Amino acid sequence: MTDLEQDRHDRYSDVSFQNHGTDLADGDFNHRLICPMGFTNASLNRSDDTEDRPLSDMLREGTKRLHAVAERTGAIADILQRKCDRLGYALLLRNLVPAYERLEAELFARRAHPILGVFADRSLRRSDRLRTDLQAIEGADWERSLPLLRSGISYAAAISEAAAGDGLRLVSHAYVRYLGDLSGGQVIKKLLGKSLSLPAAALTVYEFPDIEAHVLKARLRDALDRAGRVTDDPHMLVIEAMTAFEHNIVVSREVKRQATADAGQVAAG
Ligand code: HEM
Repeated sequence: MTDLEQDRHDRYSDVSFQNHGTDLADGDFNHRLICPMGFTNASLNRSDDTEDRPLSDMLREGTKRLHAVAERTGAIADILQRKCDRLGYALLLRNLVPAYERLEAELFARRAHPILGVFADRSLRRSDRLRTDLQAIEGADWERSLPLLRSGISYAAAISEAAAGDGLRLVSHAYVRYLGDLSGGQVIKKLLGKSLSLPAAALTVYEFPDIEAHVLKARLRDALDRAGRVTDDPHMLVIEAMTAFEHNIVVSREVKRQATADAGQVAAG
């Protein structure tokens, strides 16, 4: 096991992927060892059959299974099944704030970069919108009333790690969150509007008013494909996106666990 793998193993050692309704067992968690695209650590090099494939395709394929897990796990699954309450949703948003803030700070610091600069676009920026929504749902005191969970802290730390070196691995994190907000986020917005009766003022994180979603998606995919062409190791960018998905899954699970415990306490009190 490399140092990075050991570190990730340690960080997640108390987080089990059992019982989330998929075939992803605990032993499969570390995709640096077992990867749905068939890569192993020893094969994480450019190979002839993938070297011409656009990175955006590799990312979609490489994260397909984890995307399905994300949809079926924790607070996100509850939202889809209309079982999520306001507290659970607020807790989910609250625990995404550090990740978005870190991502957006790192991207903004590299706004002159020909590829990373594309993701530093103001129309993508979500962290201020998260804060607006949290205030609308939970009130001005949300930072004190909603706990920041270990998984939320770990997610932000992983983004800092991804910013090391040339910072190109940040594109993988931007892919997972921004393409997600532009895609599934739109479904979530409609569901939440109905099931939690949230007004538009509390759902601003899913709005991209400056530009049409399909134009923005095409621009982001183009930048991803360019990242795939300039890097020596496009597979590492796929692996980073898988890491980002894993963090989302862990946040979603921990949020559900916490929200359930909180609801239990209220009922008992
Ligand atoms: C933590 C949760 C989620 C994350 C991180 C996430 C992330 C992503 C990403 C990165 C993509 C882009 C895939 C591509 O390369 O084309 C995507 C696409 C998509 N997601 Fe999600 N997603 C999540 C949850 C959901 C949910 C709950 C739904 C809705 C039921 C959903 C529905 C979709 C759809 C329909 C697309 C395809 C959009 C297109 O073809 O342009 N996702 N998601």
